[in-house]
Amino acid sequence: GQADKGEYPHFMLKEIYEQPEALTNAMRGRLHEADATAHFGGLNLTAAQLRQVERIIITGCGTSYYAGLVGEYLIEDLARLPVEVEYASELRYRHPPIDPQTILLAITQSGETADTLAALREANRRGQTTLAICNVVGSSIAREAHGGVYLHAGPEIGVASTKAFTAQCLVLTLLALYLGRLRHLSVSQGQRILRELQALPEAVRQALQCHDSVKTLAEKYSHATNMLYLGRQYLYPVALEGALKLKEISYIHAEGYPAAEMKHGPIALVDEQTPSVFLVPSGPVFDKVLANMQEIKARGGPIIAITSGNEAEVAAIADDVIAVPAVAEYLQPIVTVIPLQLLAYEMALLRGCDVDRPRNLAKSVTVE
Ligand code: G6P
Repeated sequence: GQADKGEYPHFMLKEIYEQPEALTNAMRGRLHEADATAHFGGLNLTAAQLRQVERIIITGCGTSYYAGLVGEYLIEDLARLPVEVEYASELRYRHPPIDPQTILLAITQSGETADTLAALREANRRGQTTLAICNVVGSSIAREAHGGVYLHAGPEIGVASTKAFTAQCLVLTLLALYLGRLRHLSVSQGQRILRELQALPEAVRQALQCHDSVKTLAEKYSHATNMLYLGRQYLYPVALEGALKLKEISYIHAEGYPAAEMKHGPIALVDEQTPSVFLVPSGPVFDKVLANMQEIKARGGPIIAITSGNEAEVAAIADDVIAVPAVAEYLQPIVTVIPLQLLAYEMALLRGCDVDRPRNLAKSVTVE
């Protein structure tokens, strides 16, 4: 059954490998060719009501918060709606100006995180419309939100979130597509997005094939005490998530940063002992990220690059290159996070850490 590890040594590894299937399940029954959009059963809001929405505030904690940051790019890009993302523990005590056209969207795997639940209750108390993206069916947040979308990713047991993150990014993409189609996205744009979504599980399956090369990388870098994770645009939240994964299970200090912003501070940390993991997408920022890589290389920092762009150009600067399949820009987070999950896992194993139950952490934090 899903609650045992099967052939895998750890739940985390099993859950990493389950991602193609989890993504397929998160999409099942939700893609509608006829009207080139996504549909959901439980939003409890009519299309007319959703057309009135003028702003979305996304909230969550930990990895779910980072999925929210990906959601900000997605909803802005595909639906042209203003989005703000705030940590639930901060939102709870802020007094953001709200109006009936602003909806709160809580993101949570467990549906039980105390800070997220408190932020949701506060929004409900103020009379805001609230939605939730949850994995656990019937959880507190799923019950108390006005409507929502389940991930259908299956149980996630490993404390470090993996398949819930990619399923959250996917559901946010479906939501952005739906909201976009209610506003300005054309039928042909909707059809193109549906085709790209259908190809996604296979791209993730291919990305998992980097496991052996990632293992070799981990052997090379497992003695690091500090690492930087750098990305831009859609891959900036993925840099944050990659750094979080490493901290959580290997206890190596890691910092995620926007690749270009690194020259305003973190570059001072760079030396021969401080590897930087660069996320290098094909597309408009490819050259810019290569320029950021050059700056680190000039200061003697080892460079690991994860890329869907021209490998030869990347390899001319980076010490190590991991290739991932090229997908549409808005799907790059889902494909690019795969080697980062595997890197954290392999580094933690080499350091003798308990990857499924890291010290000081809980799967679900039920205190504020
Ligand atoms: C804990 C877990 C993280 C998770 C976060 C939010 O810190 O260790 O993996 O991302 O809580 O949990 P949620 O269930 O709300 O997504």
